[in-house]
Amino acid sequence: MPTLFHPLRLGSLELPNRIFMAPLTRARAGREGVPNELMARYYAQRAGAGLIISEATGISREGLGWPGAPGLWNEAQVDGWKLVTDAVHAQGGRIAAQLWHMGRLVHPDLGGGQPLSSSATTAPDHAHTYEGNKPYVEARAATAADIKRIVDDYVRAARNAVRAGFDGVQIHGANGYLVDQFLRDSANFRDDRYGGSIDNRIRFVRQLLEAVGNEIGIDRVGIRFSPNILVQGVEDSDPIPLYAELAKMLEELKVPWIELREPYKPTSSGSIPSAPVSPAMRPHYTGKIVINSDHDWTDARHRIANGHADAVSIGRLFIANPDLVRRIAANAPLNPGDSKTFYSGGAEGYTDYPFLTEQVAA
Ligand SMILES: Cc1cc2nc3c(=O)[nH]c(=O)nc-3n(C[C@H](O)[C@H](O)[C@H](O)COP(=O)(O)O)c2cc1C
Repeated sequence: MPTLFHPLRLGSLELPNRIFMAPLTRARAGREGVPNELMARYYAQRAGAGLIISEATGISREGLGWPGAPGLWNEAQVDGWKLVTDAVHAQGGRIAAQLWHMGRLVHPDLGGGQPLSSSATTAPDHAHTYEGNKPYVEARAATAADIKRIVDDYVRAARNAVRAGFDGVQIHGANGYLVDQFLRDSANFRDDRYGGSIDNRIRFVRQLLEAVGNEIGIDRVGIRFSPNILVQGVEDSDPIPLYAELAKMLEELKVPWIELREPYKPTSSGSIPSAPVSPAMRPHYTGKIVINSDHDWTDARHRIANGHADAVSIGRLFIANPDLVRRIAANAPLNPGDSKTFYSGGAEGYTDYPFLTEQVAA
């Protein structure tokens, strides 16, 4: 029976363990979204993860609305990411780029122009901008030409990810961003071939996966979903058939891995999940399933041992514990995290969390 410390193959990737670093926006890339030496240090410190999934990374100016988040649409960003991937590889790690279009969650102050979504809707709450929080503005519904252009932007970002030295990409299909705005029916009110039936709502993500797979090889592509939680105004009235159908499509396209942000109990960040959907996906999908959200080791070990999942990804504990895999192996105590420095910029709360060896020596 596999444990957290058994190797795992994910498409083209050979991983030494099954404890992944979940994608974590840390807002240290400046206004131009260009990764830097500080980011390289942060990721290299966490190279013990079976796989690092990068922070969400904009595929285009239009799609990026988080202050200080990185992009992958221009040469300066490719060069910046090379610093990161080289540093991770030098420490023996592996890293995939999470590709992101935020859709209606891009405030015009950041993206330029009215945001795009599946339908003309306005996200709840407020956007983070460089001038503080502002209410979201209404998105316009993407036209067929917009959809084609966005697919091309994903393809360019995937090509750039490979040029920048990433070992693979993950399409961000979770958390209320553009892909999710097409998938789940609280945000998609289209009456064309991209809305209404499940087949229509999964068409956009199918096109993305096909196009990105053709560009860099499907064995280097994964995808993330958040099937059983309401996030940023996006949820589905009937998630089980939707995600079962998605699982069939992912199987057909030979997508080698999926990551599910699928809490099984009320989360520490306040969301109340509905029933998990992974049991409905598993029978249709032979690729690898990575589970995420509020997992402890006993539970993750159990779900991997009984075949419900193949790996676990860890978010907040990886922020505070660069050597998390070693700590789990040694059953060592964990550093507490500090949410005030999640997006604050600079080295504090970013590259200064102590390693176990420093603590033992101190
Ligand atoms: C500071 C912070 C930044 C995050 N950024 C991203 C992101 O860029 N992409 C993403 O898919 N999820 C993001 N998430 C969600 C995490 O990947 C993860 O799903 C969540 O923290 C639950 O896992 P955990 O209980 O192990 O922390 C973020 C969460 C936090 C706390």
